[in-house]
Order: sequence, then structure tokens, then C-alpha cells
Amino acid sequence: MNLKDLYIDFFVSKGHKQIPSAPVVPENDPSVLFNTAGMQPLIPYLMGEEHPYGTRLCDYQKCIRTNDLDNIGDTYHHTFFEMLGNWSLGDYFKKEAITWSYEFLTEVLKIPKEKLGVTIFAGNEYIKRDDEAYEIWNSLGIPEARIAAIKDNFWIAGETGPCGPDSEMFYFRSNDEVPEYFDPDDERWVEIWNDVFMQYYKHEDGSITELPKKNVDTGMGLERVVTILEGLTDNYASSVWSDIIKVIEEVSNKPYIGNEESMRIIADHLRTAVFISADPSGIKPSNTDQGYILRRLIRRAIRHAKKLNIDINSNWEEKIALAIMNKYKKYYSEIEQNQDVVLEVLKNEKIKFNRTLEKGLKEFEKITSNLNENILDKDLAFRLYDTYGFPIELTEELAREKGIQVDIEGFKEKFKAHQELSRAGSTQKFKGGLAGNGEIETRYHTATHLLNAALKKVVGPDVHQKGSNITVDRMRFDFSCDHKLSDIEKQEAENLVNKWINDSIDVVCTEMKKEDAIKSGAECMFIEKYPDVVTVYSIGDISKELCGGPHVKNTSEIGKFKIVKEEASSAGVRRIKAVIE
Ligand code: ALA
Repeated sequence: MNLKDLYIDFFVSKGHKQIPSAPVVPENDPSVLFNTAGMQPLIPYLMGEEHPYGTRLCDYQKCIRTNDLDNIGDTYHHTFFEMLGNWSLGDYFKKEAITWSYEFLTEVLKIPKEKLGVTIFAGNEYIKRDDEAYEIWNSLGIPEARIAAIKDNFWIAGETGPCGPDSEMFYFRSNDEVPEYFDPDDERWVEIWNDVFMQYYKHEDGSITELPKKNVDTGMGLERVVTILEGLTDNYASSVWSDIIKVIEEVSNKPYIGNEESMRIIADHLRTAVFISADPSGIKPSNTDQGYILRRLIRRAIRHAKKLNIDINSNWEEKIALAIMNKYKKYYSEIEQNQDVVLEVLKNEKIKFNRTLEKGLKEFEKITSNLNENILDKDLAFRLYDTYGFPIELTEELAREKGIQVDIEGFKEKFKAHQELSRAGSTQKFKGGLAGNGEIETRYHTATHLLNAALKKVVGPDVHQKGSNITVDRMRFDFSCDHKLSDIEKQEAENLVNKWINDSIDVVCTEMKKEDAIKSGAECMFIEKYPDVVTVYSIGDISKELCGGPHVKNTSEIGKFKIVKEEASSAGVRRIKAVIE
């Protein structure tokens, strides 16, 4: 029996209901491009809403993480993976969760307890050490030397949301003798499962409050555990991948050994591309958001197929995709249903890219043989993208092979500006807003930041921007708020904005790494959608937001601000229309 079935059967026998895997593109959560963990589609239920299947759930969830796309090619990174999980929604807590984890690992998977190590939360200034988890593990037979208390054993999906102390399980993957003391930093110990005791909610201002109920959220990475159970160290050598790698060996007429990197990239990227294009959201390759991830994955796979001397015009991608779909269709009905769509997406994108790939590679050779220094500047990198459709990591990879560096940050800036322009062009959504560089729109743009800050002060810190739209005549600003604003609230917000305008405050633009920007407390609507290096606009100590601009240099340039209307926009979202006089 395979791991998915063993896992589900075990938790069903403990009173859990199996829930279907949610689509890879989240249905009601515009803050992330893809589901990155099993708990993500369950957030409303972890926060107290009743789940139609009850209080004990289990599943295998399709997850996509694209933050380390560049690492694909090694033995254990994947852009797509399956996460096995079981949940208690205010039902059982630590004792049952830990006991069942232990039982599944040692009795169902037959992992010797001598090869297990676990971590528990060491406590911090707000929440005490998790002695309870310690006691439970210890009473099950895990000795003190194999229980490590860790300060940052506290799990949260992003910056805010349901969270709690966690307890991770590690397996000793080595033929060496198992050391007496478990050291989670020793690479021979591999993390296999995580039990999160999700009883808190972290708010935007950093404060932590109790959730209405104590929950359990767990996650086990399927690929990794299968590899371990099969006694291997290369995930791609395990039964998860063997059918797929075999087809790649056939179409390339080359063995896996000696060609691992390209074969892993092709296998990984095409598997993820299959799941994205089979998703009910109907994503197609494009130059924005999920569509751009899909495009990059397919194009990078094509380039590696070329490296292996596969005839790109043959139906190699179809053969590989069919092997992938055969493997997964039993578990995911959309794979079976959308088989033709997937094959068409792959083929069309291949034809499109193939038209420019050859020319682009020639151009790349030409450019790089004429460089003065070993640096490819942002304009050349952007030309390869814009004219030949080379995603940046493809250019970077080609450059790396020749010992050349690429000005990635410069490229990302250019790319972002270009994306905003094309988005505005294609949807008119930002008409005169982000893309409009007119003087009036620029003033409105800075006014939205002030209004956002004013509403946080007047209504509360939970106010967040949900959208905005600017024309030369007015601005519209959508924000999260559970009530109609009173006349006093409207007046106070308007007064505050005007006060800050009268205070003549400088607007300062800083470039920083996305993670530093978030750490510094900068606001932003869709964090996943920003590149790694972002621009942050600060207005004194009043406002700090990730934003592409443009903005005025000083608030005094804005003029007099006036709210003309406040109304409902959608559930939990209010809309303000305002003008500058
Ligand atoms: N949500 C937890 C994780 O992803 C279980 O590790």
C-alpha cells in the first residue's frame, strides 16, 4: 500500500473524515498565488467556523512553493509536493496528536524509535515552554536526549494568522551509528512531520491572542518520507519519481546517472506545470502571477530538454506529462478530466518558446562574448526576456554556466515596472493609478497611503487596503472593516489626512529586500506578488508601504483632501470615494 493510503486509513480509523485536496490556486484567498500548506484552505475553520465534515479531518493536499525555484536540481527540492495532514478543530489536542503521530511512525511505517528525534517549543517572553509536549513524548518512550527544546518552534503560515508552538519529528537518515543526543542542525537528521498546536492568532501589530478553540494542524511531506522509507537519499530516485524519470531516460536516450540535474528539473517542472494547468482555475501561461510561474516552469524544462539533446519538436513533453498524469489521476480527478487541456497548454507553450529559443540562445552567445566585465546588465537581461521570452532564471542559469553574473535586482525592477504597465493596459484596472504618471494621479496615489494610515488610527489596526482605483477625477479606496463608518469616523479620517498634508512631510522611497521590508512592518496588499527586492514608500512615521509608486516628494503637494462617499463594497469590505481639491 502506498503512503497516502496508509496515512488516510490510519487517521480514518481514529475518527477522522477525509476531505478532498483543495485546488492548487486558492479559491478565496488573493493573498497567495498557490496553496503552500495543507492548513491554508482550512484557515476559516481553524479560526472557529464550523466545518461541514466535523472536527477531525485528514487529507493529502497539493502544495506549490516557488520561492526556491533556483534550488530545483538538487536531491530534495520540489516546486510541487503533497502534504499529508490531520486536523483537530477544537477536538483533541496534544496528547492524542502526539500519540497518534508516534503510533503511525513506529507501528504503521515501522520506523524504529531509536531513529527518531523530536523538537518541542522552548518558550519565549509571551508563551511558556511546552512541557506538556515534552512529557507526552517522553512517556511514549522518546528519551530526554532525543527531545530538543527550540526557541523558534512556533509555526505560522506567513506574517499573520492562526499559529502556535509546534513539535517536529526527525528521522536519522544515515548508516552511521545514531548519536546519543539528537541535534536538529546535524544534517543526518531529516525533518519528516510537524504537529502544530494551533491555539493562537497573530495580528498585524504583532500581538497574539487566543483562538476560540484549540486546534491541531499537522503536515508530513510525502516525497521526503517515501524516500526515507525506501532507504534512499535522493528523492528523485524514489518510487515517487521512478516512472517519470524512466520516460525522461527514454526520450533523451540517456541514463539518469550523470544527467541528474537536468532530469530532475524536467521532472519537477513538468509535474508542477501539469498540476497548475489541470487546476479548475484554468490558469494559462502568461506574463503575470500564476500564469507567469507556469510559463517559467515550462520554458526552463524545455531548455533542459534541449541540454539533454531531446528533439524539442518531437512529442517528448506529452510522453512525460502522460506518465505524470497516469501516476496521479487516481488521486486527483481534475488530472483525469483535464488531460487534454494539460497537453494542449504544454504543446502551445513549447511551440511559442521554440520559435524564439534558438534565436535567443544565439543572441545570448553574441551578447556574452562581447562583455567588458563578467556582468550581464539589466537592459540585456530584459531584452532576452522581452524579445526572446527568456525568464530571468533561465538567463541566470545560462550565464552561470559561463561564469557570468546577471544584474538580477536591476532586471526585477525593470520587470516589475513593465508588468504594472501591461497589467494596467490589459485590464484598465489601474487606469491612471499605478501606471499613470500624471501629476494629479501621483497626488492621489500618495493620498491613498495617507488615507490607509488614517483609517488605521481612527477605525483600528485591523484595517487593510483591499484595492484602489485612481482616475484624474477621484480616488476609490477599498479596505477591510466590519461596519459602516460613522460621520465622526469619516470626519476624523479626513481631518487626519489634511493635517498630514499641512504638516508638509517628506515622502521617502527606499529599496530593500522583501523580507526586510516585511520585518520593518511595511504594509502591503499581496506579498507573494512582489519581487524579492521591493520599493518601500515611507511618509514620516505615519505610513510605510510596499508600492511601485509614483508618489509626490512631499505631502504638501497633495492639496485639500475630501471624502465624498463611504459605502459597502463586499462582505467585510468598505469603499471610500474621495477627491483632492
Ligand atoms: N502547517 C504545518 C507545516 O506546514 C503543519 O509545517
